[in-house]
Amino acid sequence: MTPEHFLGFGLGLRTDHFQEVIDTKPKVDWFEVVSENFMVDGGKPKHYLHAIREHYPMVMHGVSLSIGSTETLNLDYLRQLKVLVNEIQPEWISDHLCWTGAHKSNSHDLLPLPYNDEAINHVVDRINQVQEFLGRNILMENVSSYLTYTTSEMSEWEFLNEVVKRSGCQILLDINNIYVSARNHNFSALDYLNGIDKGSVRQFHLAGHTDYGDYVIDTHDHDVADSVWDLYRQALQRFGWISTMIERDDNIPPLSDLLTELDMARNIARQTLGQHNCEFINNG
Ligand SMILES: [Fe+2]
Repeated sequence: MTPEHFLGFGLGLRTDHFQEVIDTKPKVDWFEVVSENFMVDGGKPKHYLHAIREHYPMVMHGVSLSIGSTETLNLDYLRQLKVLVNEIQPEWISDHLCWTGAHKSNSHDLLPLPYNDEAINHVVDRINQVQEFLGRNILMENVSSYLTYTTSEMSEWEFLNEVVKRSGCQILLDINNIYVSARNHNFSALDYLNGIDKGSVRQFHLAGHTDYGDYVIDTHDHDVADSVWDLYRQALQRFGWISTMIERDDNIPPLSDLLTELDMARNIARQTLGQHNCEFINNG
């Protein structure tokens, strides 16, 4: 059996592929759109968004919520987000469990939080505010990281579990981010996967990285690495059928290359979990 909320296998919708998606209706079960790219009235991106939405389910993924920041939540941003939610009726909305700046300056980076009770209280309170404002629960994504805090008191997965338990949010688990952070901080990626509560994960991200030997950077400009495919197999074994997406943000290849990668995800899921639900779900 597969969970009711399993959407299948999706791609991040990228500008380079707008017209081809409309013209060819590729074998993609759903698309993830970056919310901030469509928070405008009218214009070409909105035109394409609506045209593609007519044929595909969508989920919305944000990069600007800054849920961990100590500044007040940006109500203008939340209002615009809500307008977009009402327009495209996504299956779910996600952002990152991170902070992006302080003192009115934006670092444009997804910065990790210290993993302690104070940060849990802070983040849970803010997630609750966002969920109340939007009238629905959201998904929080684990970020890749390149630093740790001396004030952390628990593992990242214990932190995530507690945030989920107390806020009712769910997890967008980025498999590549786990791999990157595990390599950078020398912990076991498998311990991370096995530490996350079953039932709390709604979506997987798969992406490429750049391996510099001593450290790994989450660049999203390569194919998914073999080591991340291996971890994906382990994630499927633990969490079962979870909606899976290839997240490519730079060095964007032809759509056909991403479709081949998506088929690889389908095949791995089929090999790992059996035949159910691996066929193309969305019929356009
Ligand atoms: Fe991601």
